[in-house]
Amino acid sequence: MLNVKNINQYYGGSHILRDVSLQCTKGKVTVLLGRNGVGKTTLLKSLMGLVPIKTGSIELDGKAIQGYTPYERARAGVGFVPQGREIFARLTVEENLRMGLAYKSASTPIPAELFTLFPVLKQMINRRGGDLSGGQQQQLAIARALAAGPKLLILDEPTEGIQPSIIKDIGRVIRMLADRGDMAILLVEQYYDFAQELADDYLVMERGEFIARGLGKDMEANGVRNLVAI
Ligand SMILES: Nc1ncnc2c1ncn2[C@@H]1O[C@H](COP(=O)(O)OP(=O)(O)O)[C@@H](O)[C@H]1O
Ligand SMILES: [Mg+2]
Repeated sequence: MLNVKNINQYYGGSHILRDVSLQCTKGKVTVLLGRNGVGKTTLLKSLMGLVPIKTGSIELDGKAIQGYTPYERARAGVGFVPQGREIFARLTVEENLRMGLAYKSASTPIPAELFTLFPVLKQMINRRGGDLSGGQQQQLAIARALAAGPKLLILDEPTEGIQPSIIKDIGRVIRMLADRGDMAILLVEQYYDFAQELADDYLVMERGEFIARGLGKDMEANGVRNLVAI
């Protein structure tokens, strides 16, 4: 579904991403682990077109999208849940969900399925985003990314600062979405146990490069926990 080859990215003179290549497969959760500041978010922003890359190619479903704007990538089927959620605090839950449909026609309804996945959003539909708890905001950010039915769902540290019961709910939703088989999921995570539970495939980044990769079921045996321990 996603095929990334040899991305190099710079902030000014700092070489952040070094020849990064990866694949994400339909029906699978690919987990990207790594300590703070290694370049995980920069990679996701590069995939979304939010920061420019110097070299490299990005293919979604066989189509080269590295020249696309973020809007065009969203329309091509990339859903993005940014680190820190970035929901619109002054807009209602409903309006936030509509933002996920911004490039569809105005009459496109919010998919009812989002409220099955996250029932709390139905109860809170007229509340402002800023009035939701952190965990509810995270669920809203995921639902917003799902609203347009992406082929690839990218999540940047969805468990950050969130209470355990909601982390469990989010994990269940991610697994369920992958198991349906029509979506690839790329999950950046620093919470090792959550990452390991969900990973079909894993990647470990250090200083802008992948230093380890393999199957999720081998993470423990391959010592990934120590590679990312703080
Ligand atoms: N907008 C920016 N301008 C300059 N440097 C940045 C910017 N954003 C991040 N960086 C630097 O790029 C590196 C990677 O950051 P980031 O991708 O956020 O890491 P991670 O998500 O793995 O914690 C860090 O050294 C960070 O300081
Ligand atoms: Mg980050």
